[in-house]
Amino acid sequence: MRIVDIERFTPEESFENSLRPKTFDDYIGQEQIKRNLQVFIEAAKGRREPLDHTLFFGPPGLGKTTLANIIASQMGTTIKTTSAPMIEKSGDLAAILTNLEEGDILFIDELHRLSPAIEEILYSAMEDFRLDIIIGSGPAAQTIKIDIAPFTLIGATTRAGMISSPLRDRFGMHFRLQFYTPQELAKILENGAQKLGLPIEREAALEIARRSRGTPRIALRLLKRVRDFAEVAGEGKITVERARESLEALGVNEMGLDELDLKLLRLLVEARGRPLGLGTLAAALSEDEGTIEEVIEPYLLANGYIERTARGRVATEKSYEIIRLRPRESLF
Ligand SMILES: Nc1ncnc2c1ncn2[C@@H]1O[C@H](COP(=O)(O)OP(=O)(O)OP(=O)(O)O)[C@@H](O)[C@H]1O
Ligand SMILES: [Mg+2]
Repeated sequence: MRIVDIERFTPEESFENSLRPKTFDDYIGQEQIKRNLQVFIEAAKGRREPLDHTLFFGPPGLGKTTLANIIASQMGTTIKTTSAPMIEKSGDLAAILTNLEEGDILFIDELHRLSPAIEEILYSAMEDFRLDIIIGSGPAAQTIKIDIAPFTLIGATTRAGMISSPLRDRFGMHFRLQFYTPQELAKILENGAQKLGLPIEREAALEIARRSRGTPRIALRLLKRVRDFAEVAGEGKITVERARESLEALGVNEMGLDELDLKLLRLLVEARGRPLGLGTLAAALSEDEGTIEEVIEPYLLANGYIERTARGRVATEKSYEIIRLRPRESLF
């Protein structure tokens, strides 16, 4: 696995958890989201009501799960966490919902993977705190209504476009997480290094930050590796020289672009200005269109590597520069 790959549920998850900020103060960046959430949390607490259902969108590793946990701790409530693929039958969801206590937060990750039948059960649960369960089928079918405790659903998804509008509309708040600036990532790295007990020089933090694809998860993962190099060298802090050398040894791209990013750029550069449609890119990269549009492209668009035109995607000068500078073999 390349170190800049974004993957879920890796053994590194416990490492991530240990560095996960617990308060809004420790949560760096996403200022607008934080400001809004703090107001809504205070208002809900003042009214002694659960917070409105909240939906977080954004590419992997930007801090959705972390935010859900901070909300729970600020609300002073319990958070129960599950992931849509784990909810296979309507009974699974019913069991989760009927076990909630007043004010609890239910966090459903990968919300775009809920099956339609299960999604439908959520509608009345979210709107009226009631479960409508159909028992039997045909003319003998009966609906049972069960009241559930008022709760807050927090949903997270990397794929905004795959959430049906009836489900999306039932969330009172929607937040789209942004990529982080190198300065923000450097601050996250400094805090993380401190927690790990090995301080990092500002310049070293920035060096790692610039190669982290705007993503805290990638930054922290690189920090972990760089720490290994510093420790083996017997150094009491992470210096910029050590950081550079380690990143070099790890083969991390100077721009922090990963394999898929580079493949996509190469396709566009080789098309020589002819726009390529989403379908073409998807077929060439063996990825589905949604993943390209919502997970891979946002960073490339936000940083000016590609442009979206009415007829498809084109590479910018910046991408030509990168691809031209690299012999084909060194790319993948
Ligand atoms: N704003 C932040 N400040 C400090 N650390 C952060 C911030 N956002 C994320 N992190 C760190 O990055 C790691 C990944 O964040 P998190 O698990 O919340 O991402 P996610 O958006 O839920 O990703 P996925 O879509 O893969 O579930 C966390 O362990 C956390 O330590
Ligand atoms: Mg998550």
